[in-house]
Amino acid sequence: MIVNNQNYQSVWADFNNKRIYCIDQRALPFRFSILELNNLNDISNAINTMAIRGAPAIGITAAYAIWLSHYYNDGNINLILQDYNRLISLRPTAINLKKGADYVFSAINENINNSQVYDRAIEFANNEMNACYKIGTYGVELIRAIHNKSNKTVNILTHCNAGWLACGDYGTALAPIFEANKQNIPIHVWVDETRPLNQGSRLTAWELYNEKIPFSIITDNTGGLLMMKHKVDMIIIGADRIARNGDVANKIGSYLKALAAAAHSIPFYVAAPISTFDFSLDSGDDIPIEQRNSLEIQSIQSYYNDEWISSELFPSDYQSINYAFDITPAKFINSFITEQGIYKNINYLIKQFYS
Ligand code: MRU
Repeated sequence: MIVNNQNYQSVWADFNNKRIYCIDQRALPFRFSILELNNLNDISNAINTMAIRGAPAIGITAAYAIWLSHYYNDGNINLILQDYNRLISLRPTAINLKKGADYVFSAINENINNSQVYDRAIEFANNEMNACYKIGTYGVELIRAIHNKSNKTVNILTHCNAGWLACGDYGTALAPIFEANKQNIPIHVWVDETRPLNQGSRLTAWELYNEKIPFSIITDNTGGLLMMKHKVDMIIIGADRIARNGDVANKIGSYLKALAAAAHSIPFYVAAPISTFDFSLDSGDDIPIEQRNSLEIQSIQSYYNDEWISSELFPSDYQSINYAFDITPAKFINSFITEQGIYKNINYLIKQFYS
């Protein structure tokens, strides 16, 4: 994606410097800064604190991290395994994290050199970003179909940030939106702010603003009213893990949007690369839900005098619970937008996976 006339991916690796770089998503939208990740501690910290976040982006980071671990541990498989185990436990819901680590780790043996490990990590990253690009080219047809029917601006609601920051490039839920804008299909995006970390109002809005796509930020509770008032034509969200029965884990609040969409017969789409599917799990009941520090609810970050400051919203001895994701049952999902096409049910993908 282009920012300040330069083409960026949200995370990238430099073979010569033996470093990983990422856009620091904690600083956006007020500051655009690049973070340098030199070792596993830096990488863990960046993933834990959400400097780098979004399912495909943390998968790509994990792939690069295994390459770095191979370099610093001189190919010692036991030490790399320790790093691998630490990495995959950082965020439990997004399966992409493990998929990225596995893709590189599984190729390591005593005959492989560090440059070949790097190539393997780059291959994973490119596959993910190409998948996102294709999600855009398939998904745009759903937006076009609505526009062709009404001949009006298509109002699309999205939750959290599933744009290029979250994916290395292009995005999942936002990829069809970027593509629609490129093809001059008139659109307007309702952006859920996505409490408590505001990935919607900070990151999705920043991406849309950068692309000059019309949008409005709304509080997380506004979607129901908008749907009732016929102001939402479709909903597109991303996913952190999809079980074999089609149940979807995504940012907390996604489920409530799906319920409201079903009540108002508004199409609800999930956009995700195949790497987000976990066919080893029967249903959403088996997907681990990440619980994050309650401090994220108890305090709020705001930008004041060129600085991020933290303010308390309620006393720290009040109990609060911070579930980061919820499960949307498959029955509320109209279709899945993937790099292989748009699927009403995922049996075809499952068959292909096991054949
Ligand atoms: O906790 P986050 O910000 O990493 O959660 C991200 C999401 O829930 C996204 O919707 C998901 O990863 C979609 S794919 C970009």
